[in-house]
Amino acid sequence: MNIPLIDLKRAYKKVEKGLIPKLREILSEQKLILGKYCLELEKALAEFSGVPYALTCASGTDALILALMALDLKRGDEVITTPYTFFATASSVALLGGTPVFVDIDGKDMNIDPGLIERAITPKTRAIIVVHLFGKLCDMERVRGLAEKHGLAVVEDMAQSLGARRDDTASGAFGDIAALSFYPTKNLGGIGEGGMVLTKRADLFERARKLRVHGMGDQTYRHEMIGINSRLDEIKACALAEKFPFLPGWNQKRIENAMYYNRKLGDLPVGLPDAGGKGDHIFHQYVIRVERRDELKSFLQEKGVQTGIYYPLPLHLQDCFGYLGYKKGDFRETELASLTSLALPIYPELKKIEKEYVVASIREFFGTH
Ligand SMILES: Cc1ncc(COP(=O)(O)O)c(C=O)c1O
Repeated sequence: MNIPLIDLKRAYKKVEKGLIPKLREILSEQKLILGKYCLELEKALAEFSGVPYALTCASGTDALILALMALDLKRGDEVITTPYTFFATASSVALLGGTPVFVDIDGKDMNIDPGLIERAITPKTRAIIVVHLFGKLCDMERVRGLAEKHGLAVVEDMAQSLGARRDDTASGAFGDIAALSFYPTKNLGGIGEGGMVLTKRADLFERARKLRVHGMGDQTYRHEMIGINSRLDEIKACALAEKFPFLPGWNQKRIENAMYYNRKLGDLPVGLPDAGGKGDHIFHQYVIRVERRDELKSFLQEKGVQTGIYYPLPLHLQDCFGYLGYKKGDFRETELASLTSLALPIYPELKKIEKEYVVASIREFFGTH
């Protein structure tokens, strides 16, 4: 059997029939950028996430940059975040002249440890970027409490968590502003790059809206701020709008797949994610923790099961962040996670026989099949 980590063709098949005539229409109309589909997508996702404002942009990385620019991040400002995330979470800060300040994760959910945030706050701290890693919401009550106490902005990197909810609050509605990615492998993945800024704050939305088009206000070629070009193409927005109604069902399937794995792997010497099905984890990735991680990965590869390592080198140990002065051993839980994490195929269209094969292969590795 051959099971890829994700099979994008299966999801595309669901929307192909409805999408193609719309793409033809866009091409014949030649309304190519920031048109009705961008507006439709913004409206749909703002409603879904429970915020009044959403703004499409060119990528999740740009969404982070726009969010920080909207907050008026200045050179020398410090931003607290996790070293166990995709590069863009911290590079967006550094690109704007800010200083990423890393705080270790909690080994249980691999999100930033709220108990360690306060000691990292200095007079230069402006914001906290939380990442709902792998689709699991951070402990936002504690993060928000700290942010309020110290007058800091909260940015949610929700690249991996669209649709995750705790009680009545959805990912994107906990902080001041949030950044979403539509990279093709995301839970709502596009037909190319794409991203979105979501916010409850009218002031931040207004700034982000201008910053997205070179800081232009309502008057063409009058630049109120130095912004960037981060517009989204209509064909991409159209594909995302077509896929969006499937998202709740797809997220539910991911949760069910995670619960299946947890049931079938529970007796093995493997750390499993919390798959209680509460909706605060939408399993963008299903990540297990294994001491003999690299051996298991090779074994599964030979069996035809593709797995992923998120992330093999934590951000504080990346060469380009050397100037920040961190060293190996600074963040124990993060470094341990980078050595023991393994993502299994979890995509919604995974067939029962494929899940059974993944489980059987892992059990074979441990000699318990
Ligand atoms: C946690 C996280 N932040 C930011 C990004 C950046 O998004 P993009 O690839 O759309 O620029 C990604 C996705 O790649 C991500 O997983």
